[in-house]
Amino acid sequence: MPDPVPRLKLEHITRSFAGRTVVDDVSLEVMPGEVTCLLGPSGCGKSTTLRIVAGVEMQDSGCIWVDGELICDTVLRVPPERRSIGLMFQDFALFPHLSVAENVAFGLTGSKADKRARVEELLDRVDMLRLIDAFPHELSGGEQQRVALARAIAPRPSIMLMDEPFSGLDNRLRDGIRDETLSVLKEEGTAVLLVTHEPEEAMRMADRIALMRNGHIVQQGAPYNVFNAPADKEAAAFFSDINVIEGTVRGALTETAFGQFLAPGVPDGTEVEIVIRPQHLRIDFDRNGRGPNPTPSDGTPARAVVERSRFIGKESLVEFRLDYDGSRISATVPNVFLPKPGTVLWLMIRRDRCFVFPRT
Ligand SMILES: Nc1ncnc2c1ncn2[C@@H]1O[C@H](COP(=O)(O)OP(=O)(O)OP(=O)(O)O)[C@@H](O)[C@H]1O
Ligand SMILES: [Mg+2]
Repeated sequence: MPDPVPRLKLEHITRSFAGRTVVDDVSLEVMPGEVTCLLGPSGCGKSTTLRIVAGVEMQDSGCIWVDGELICDTVLRVPPERRSIGLMFQDFALFPHLSVAENVAFGLTGSKADKRARVEELLDRVDMLRLIDAFPHELSGGEQQRVALARAIAPRPSIMLMDEPFSGLDNRLRDGIRDETLSVLKEEGTAVLLVTHEPEEAMRMADRIALMRNGHIVQQGAPYNVFNAPADKEAAAFFSDINVIEGTVRGALTETAFGQFLAPGVPDGTEVEIVIRPQHLRIDFDRNGRGPNPTPSDGTPARAVVERSRFIGKESLVEFRLDYDGSRISATVPNVFLPKPGTVLWLMIRRDRCFVFPRT
C-alpha cells in the first residue's frame, strides 16, 4: 500500500525578522483526523509557524502542501481564504452583535435551510443548542469558547489551526472543552495543528508532538516516545522536573552513586549527565545500615538522607541528599509518603528509565 498522503505538510519552513531566524527549517506533517501539537517555550516560533500555514505570514523559504498539493512556496501563494483552513486562536472573539446561531453560520454558504441544519448540528455537538439565540455577552467564557469552536468547524475546514485555544479557561472547564473539541474534530476527520506551551495539554491532545526550541523542531513523535526517549536533557526537562547525575566515562562506563552506567562508544574522559525523572526513582528502607541488594535493572542502591518531604496533590515529593557526594536528588511517590527530615533511605534508579547524554 502506498504511504498515506498527509493532509498538511510543511517542508523546511524558515522565517527571519530583522536578521533573527525565528522559524528555522521546520518540517512536519499532520494526517487527516490526527492532532499534531507544536509544543515549546514562549517565543520559540510556534505562532509564527501557524501564521505561515494560515497564510497571514509569509515564509522566507520552504513549502506547504495540502493533500499532496503545493499551496505555498516562495513563488506560489494560495491566499488564506482559499486554503480550507479553520483558525481558533486564544482571542477567539465572537461577533458581539450576532447571536450564537448567526456567529456559527457566519462562514457558511448554501441555502438558508442547509445553513440552519449545520448550525444546529454543531451547536448540539458542543452542547450549546439551548443557547442558540443568545448573544455572546450572555455566555460564560467556556460557552463562548464552545460557540467559537462550532464556528471554526462549521465550514468543514480540512485543517484546523489552534493557537493556545484553551488558555483562557480555568482547569476544570478546560479539560472538558479540550476533550469535547478533540472528539468533534476527530469525527469530522479534520487534521489539527495545535500550538501549546503546556506539556500536559500536548500529551493529552496530541497523536504526535513536535517539540520546538529556538525556532527548531528538536524532536517529533508520539507523546509516549517523546516523553520516554527525550532527544536531550532540555527535552527531558520540558516535560517534568528531572534529576541530573554527573559522571565521567572510563572504559565505556561511568561510575556514580548508583553503580556503573554503560556508555558504549563514548570516549574516555567524556563528561556525561544521567537524567532521571523523580517518578522513576525507587525508594527502599534501611536495613540496619544496609540497603537492598543490587540488581541488573536497578543497579546499586545509594544511601540518602531525607531533607524535606511535601504532599503535592496526587503524589509526595521527597528531597534527599546523597551520602556518595552530597548532591541533592528528588523522588516522587504516589499518594502520601512523608518521611521526616534526617530519615535514612536507599534510592535506586531504573536503568531503563534514565537517559545518558554528553554534558553540554
Ligand atoms: N512580525 C514580527 N516582527 C518581528 N518579530 C516577530 C514578529 N512576529 C514574531 N516575532 C518574534 O519571533 C519570535 C517568535 O514569536 P512567536 O509568536 O512565534 O512565538 P511563540 O512560540 O508563539 O511564543 P508564545 O508561546 O509566547 O506565544 C518572538 O521572539 C517574536 O518577538
Ligand atoms: Mg504564540
